Amino acid sequence: MKLLEELKLKNVTFKNRIAFPPMTTAYGGGNGVHDDLFAPQSIAFYERLAKGGTSYVVIGDIPTCNTFANSRSKVTSRDDIPNLKLLADTLHKYDCKLGLQFFVAECDVEEMSRLIAEGKMAEARAIMRGHDYPLVISAEKIKEIVELTAQSAVWAHEAGVDVIQVHGDRFNGVLLSSTLNTRTDEYGGSLENRMRFALETVRAIREKCPEIAIEYKFSMRTVNPDGSIRGNGGLNLEESLIFAKELEKAGVEMLHVAQANHTSQSEDTMPPMGVQPYGFTTAKYLDELRKVVSIPLCAVGRIINPNTVEAILEDGMADMVSLGRSLLCDPDFVNKYAEGKADEIRQCISCNKGCLDSVMASTFCQCSLNPENGYELVREIVPASVKKKVAVIGGGMAGMEAARVLALRGHDVTLYEKTYRLGGQVNIAAVPPRKFEMRRAIDNYERVLPKYGVNIRLGCDAAKEDLSGYSDAVIATGAKNKDIPVPGHDESYVFSAWDVLDGKSIVFGNVAVIGGGLVGAETAEFLANIGAKVTIVEMLPTIAKDEGVTVRPTLMKDLESHDVKMYVNTRLLKIENRKVYCETVEGDKKIESILPVDFVVMAVGADGYKAELPGFKGNIYYAGDCAGERPSDISHATKSAYDVACSI
Ligand SMILES: Cc1cc2nc3c(=O)[nH]c(=O)nc-3n(C[C@H](O)[C@H](O)[C@H](O)COP(=O)(O)O)c2cc1C
Ligand code: SF4
Repeated sequence: MKLLEELKLKNVTFKNRIAFPPMTTAYGGGNGVHDDLFAPQSIAFYERLAKGGTSYVVIGDIPTCNTFANSRSKVTSRDDIPNLKLLADTLHKYDCKLGLQFFVAECDVEEMSRLIAEGKMAEARAIMRGHDYPLVISAEKIKEIVELTAQSAVWAHEAGVDVIQVHGDRFNGVLLSSTLNTRTDEYGGSLENRMRFALETVRAIREKCPEIAIEYKFSMRTVNPDGSIRGNGGLNLEESLIFAKELEKAGVEMLHVAQANHTSQSEDTMPPMGVQPYGFTTAKYLDELRKVVSIPLCAVGRIINPNTVEAILEDGMADMVSLGRSLLCDPDFVNKYAEGKADEIRQCISCNKGCLDSVMASTFCQCSLNPENGYELVREIVPASVKKKVAVIGGGMAGMEAARVLALRGHDVTLYEKTYRLGGQVNIAAVPPRKFEMRRAIDNYERVLPKYGVNIRLGCDAAKEDLSGYSDAVIATGAKNKDIPVPGHDESYVFSAWDVLDGKSIVFGNVAVIGGGLVGAETAEFLANIGAKVTIVEMLPTIAKDEGVTVRPTLMKDLESHDVKMYVNTRLLKIENRKVYCETVEGDKKIESILPVDFVVMAVGADGYKAELPGFKGNIYYAGDCAGERPSDISHATKSAYDVACSI
């Protein structure tokens, strides 16, 4: 098993081939904008990765120049050594190596600090938005940054840090780019000049801190399946091959080969499900690099399961594999694999909801499928003091998660599901274009629940069963598609979005989808893709307003390319004689429209549904959509179920 073999880099020995890539987690940052790398939650998260068998953890975006933020995630003075040492010592307990990704932002953070200190917020914000710092900063100042970075490497090494990863994006990515870099001095123009900052940084670290291993985040512009170029900063393949050789000569010991990114284009590097192929930066690009350098290569990007990792390593495509979101989803990836329990690995679905979207929404990384992620200090499965017989009612995400945790705690668990399949709403959420990967969320449970001893009763209505043998029941019966009492809502040609996605109701021709939230927009996209002429009627000003930054652009593009008509600020008045009557508010005006339809699909939300258990005398708990004030998302389902299961 190549995955479990050691890898040597200079004088660092990684105990296996699985790394955690640089990732801004926003743990301990309070407002989520800046991490506090040394906050207890942050340390607990990294320790959890190490405990699960990961051999190398890289901490993302560590500045080596003073920042404007009150952030402790930086290495800018000797004072940072004790905190760093705490982190290094914590990981080393598990023989996990620590890397720091040194980066320079695209804005003048020191100038911004000064303006903020003087209360000149508007000017500071303008600097932050500008992203043109690499183009206007003086050559002298660039050389100063190089020296500061080398000095930071010395302090990091003193603290016990094993590897410095030089960030190839952001400031550096702009300088490298043939399209963004418009400088006319020694840092702009020819490839030699554009590479100068990166190579000077590597050489300076090597010279000032000869003992530390150096990795380089090798950010490449890749080619999309449709032939277009992906990524603004960074280099294309041709220039990359020249650059890789220069980095090797300058002293880099490993290339972390990744998709080039530039601020505010997160979908480039962290594509959601279905948008980019699995391993999108791996095969072709690594093979080409392999021909020109002899240092180890590390692969990253949408690598989900251990068989793929093994194949990448066995075939020699890469020497190490970084798993980002996959390790948030299951930090025990390596240990489970080593113990012959690869089938128990919880596989990431690339939804981006709990991780990236949470960071963007100023909270913190908390995988939707893994309730412990982001809560490592407070959530842990411990054996139950009294083993009980527990019935879980409902086989959706909440029911499955409750059953998993209850079983792991030693309870005797039976899971009742009324239909003949597990998964609940995920079964329909997986139907729209690009969403099929959602099914992995169900597969994960289908593999482990029987193994953990959960008795699964499909096609079984618990309300009609004799539950007298159970002391406790967890009701996780989810939600029902909402109906609204507008005139005509009960016409024969009006169906619910859930029934349409489930295939229970088939529609065609002119279809009005009422509601342009997540379900409505995705149902509209699904119908447009199978040939319907679709119109969305939405009361709010924005379609799919709660969709994440990496998902919404593709969705909107697809709706537009299928000529889906979108009425926003528009209220449904009535449905009559195969016509939808609605009213659009535009300033002071109200404009009425009449849309001829063959079918109407209602996507106006959901109501929680709590099943009754007549005659059941034991303790009752609720989890998932039927537990909260109103139905929520997968993250809420798994977290609420986990917590309920831990309380029994
Ligand atoms: C929440 C989040 C934060 C990230 N922060 C960084 C970062 O600070 N620096 C960086 O180079 N890459 C960052 N990345 C990109 C990851 O290192 C990685 O390349 C990307 O997630 C693709 O790998 P994966 O599919 O295994 O998650 C981040 C990714 C995520 C999801
Ligand atoms: S939230 Fe979604 S994308 Fe992020 S780690 Fe979890 S499953 Fe993967």
